[in-house]
Amino acid sequence: MREIDGKTRVCGLIGNPVEHTLSPVIHNTLAQRMGQDLVYVPFLVEESRVEDAVKGAYALNVLGLNVTVPHKSAVLPWVKEIDPLAEKIGAANTLVRCEDGFRAYNTDMTGLHRAMLSDGIRLEQEKVILLGAGGAARAVAFLCAHTGVEKVYLLNRTVEKAQTVADEVNRSFGRECICSMALDEYDRIPGGGYLAIQCTSVGLHPHVDDVVIADEAFYEKLHSGYDLIYKPWETRFMKLVRENGGQAYNGLKMLCYQGIHAYELWNRVTVSDEDADTVLQKMKEAMGIDG
Ligand code: ATR
Repeated sequence: MREIDGKTRVCGLIGNPVEHTLSPVIHNTLAQRMGQDLVYVPFLVEESRVEDAVKGAYALNVLGLNVTVPHKSAVLPWVKEIDPLAEKIGAANTLVRCEDGFRAYNTDMTGLHRAMLSDGIRLEQEKVILLGAGGAARAVAFLCAHTGVEKVYLLNRTVEKAQTVADEVNRSFGRECICSMALDEYDRIPGGGYLAIQCTSVGLHPHVDDVVIADEAFYEKLHSGYDLIYKPWETRFMKLVRENGGQAYNGLKMLCYQGIHAYELWNRVTVSDEDADTVLQKMKEAMGIDG
């Protein structure tokens, strides 16, 4: 890290907990490579102190904040402006300093979009199966509608939650693009050639043998599978995708690109593909992954 001096700017992460975050690796690597006088630090913030944290950070001339669980919606009342996608989703993970306050963005979703593009997946041209209806799945459903995906099958164990998310997104975009189903109704999905995005918490470390759908017949419908999980490096969902001839990806690149987009917004720069690759490599090293 370069010397801290009187001009050093501060960015940081607010959340609870924050100690296992990989975000300092992303931003401090970028600052070093791109020569910006910037440090990035985690800030543990209690749920009752979100307003204080956002206003305090602004008062301290903090350049930008990332926001993680459980504050992604709780920050919104305390920002000056909200980007349209973040506004629709109702959650933000990036606050950018502007005049008189912060502007909130959802770079989790723009990051997922960019991660997919870098893997050769053009979301807007895909037929999508979304697994889950929690906070992450809901945001991805908004992203799909926002990018113009024609049809999304949204499957969840609790079908009422899938229905609620589908209704909300369809209403918000004025078209019936999300179709909700119970998890065990996957055999009703017509044809094949789908991209599946795994947005449930099933298979997350340490429950690495769990998978949301175990039936191989489901995986035959897919050409690719994206798991938002990156611990373990290869989930059972990903293994099943690969065993059935599909391409599988984990969530680390999404995490990398959400950080890159935040960095670009804070510093008004464009991060090159080469710098993005270096960041991803550093993240893997921090996780103890080879290669
Ligand atoms: P996040 O904010 O990460 O999306 P969440 O809101 O807690 O987390 O959502 C977790 C998702 O994983 C939900 O879709 C949940 O399904 P339910 O809505 O039916 O609870 C799903 N999930 C968790 N454990 C599951 C399990 N054992 N089988 C199937 N789905 C599961």
